[in-house]
Amino acid sequence: MPLNIIVGAQWGDEGKGRIVDYLAAGADYVARYNGGDNAGHTVTVGSKIFKLHLVPSGIVHPHVIAVLGNGMVINPRTLLDEMSSLRGAGVSIAPQRLHISPAAHLITPAHRALDKALEAARSKEKQIGTTGRGIGPAYTDKATRRGLRLADLLAPDFRERLLAHLHESNRTLSGLGAPELDSEEEADAFINQSSRLALYIFDVAAELHLALKQGHTVLAEGAQGTLLDIDHGTYPFVTSSSTLAPAALTGLGLGITAAREGRVMGVTKAFQTRVGSGPFPTEIKGKAAERLRGTGQNPWDEYGTTTGRPRRVGWLDGVLLRYAVRVNGLTELIITKLDILSGLESIKLCTGYSVNNAIVSDPPGGADGIAACEPIYEELPGWAEDITAVRKWKSLPKNAKAYLERISALAETPIKLVSLGPEREQILEI
Ligand code: GDP
Ligand code: IMO
Ligand code: MG
Repeated sequence: MPLNIIVGAQWGDEGKGRIVDYLAAGADYVARYNGGDNAGHTVTVGSKIFKLHLVPSGIVHPHVIAVLGNGMVINPRTLLDEMSSLRGAGVSIAPQRLHISPAAHLITPAHRALDKALEAARSKEKQIGTTGRGIGPAYTDKATRRGLRLADLLAPDFRERLLAHLHESNRTLSGLGAPELDSEEEADAFINQSSRLALYIFDVAAELHLALKQGHTVLAEGAQGTLLDIDHGTYPFVTSSSTLAPAALTGLGLGITAAREGRVMGVTKAFQTRVGSGPFPTEIKGKAAERLRGTGQNPWDEYGTTTGRPRRVGWLDGVLLRYAVRVNGLTELIITKLDILSGLESIKLCTGYSVNNAIVSDPPGGADGIAACEPIYEELPGWAEDITAVRKWKSLPKNAKAYLERISALAETPIKLVSLGPEREQILEI
């Protein structure tokens, strides 16, 4: 049985949580492999809306074992808050079913303060618009080999090492003109809280290896999206982790052959969104943008799950979708939010870019080359029908089918699932 991987094919918020929840019904393990609480994954089940930041979205299914892999950066306070709000919503959270890698890195209050101070110190054009969750500074410490890991919580000298980290961060904060933290107070609070996670630390790499060997199904849940990847995204307007499907292996401690037989699923909205700064060739503004974004009345309107910021919106970018297929090795596409397009007279789809008097169908020199590109659009006729209750391909309006078929042809990849609403059953399988 396979390792199946779900990744965002755009700039995040594609509806990964909703799709993971749907597919977790058939999985034994659901594992996050990158990022931290910069992620906000929404799962809607009846009247309940779960907003998950660190805990894998599969947790909502009682049979699933949820894994937080070594590729993640974990803020103990937000994790504990999330665990208790999940318990409050009737989800069982226990060491038997929530396993955290000892090699995952810790996010401290100093990382958060540094994230904000570094962002404030950047000039307007250079600001990334981070989520302020300390992601960049935590991965910086990991890469410079001075990070604190989950396993360190159990070490007798943890307090000393934490204090050293807080002192050093204070020096940087003061250099940036930001207020320093009270190291002793922060250390006490941090140790007090994070020690409660000790029971959940587990050798998840060995566990997942064995699970796959025994025929269990593991679903790897990506956070952020392809275009936010530190190597292959729109650098420097990216996050600080590897978000792509291959990172599921290193981020969980699995070997390359673990992915041999599985599905690699790229989730994309039927249009394009981005929160934070950076290039966005198909972005639209004004009234047309409001139509795609919504006004904030509906829970699914385009406002960030983690920060509440209005998302930038635009037409689906077929060039970047082809790129996502290539860099992730996607075997299939999953389309979400098709319902939002109902009622539009026509729909634009970007099929190429014009750059330096040439027409290209791949981003020139990688995703960070798109800033200079002008989108070339194809305009397709829309449909008027409400499609939120459609469950079969044949019941979709003709023009909706034609739009999906065009996307699939452009990306040279089959579409396997189409989501028509946030609810678990508002989906059709092709
Ligand atoms: P993620 O970060 O990729 O998990 O996505 P988010 O949860 O941040 O954002 C996706 C939003 O769209 C959430 O509010 C979902 O409930 C909602 N959503 C997902 N799929 C659909 C869909 O097909 N139709 C509608 N209307 N909403 C959807
Ligand atoms: P999910 O998993 C959308 C964006 C931020 C910012 C950039 C860097 O819900 O799809 P960071 O805090 O990571 O250093 O911010 O990345 N970003 C996301 N955008 N969805 C996310 O996660 C994101 N996580 C980070 O807005 O532009
Ligand atoms: Mg999100």
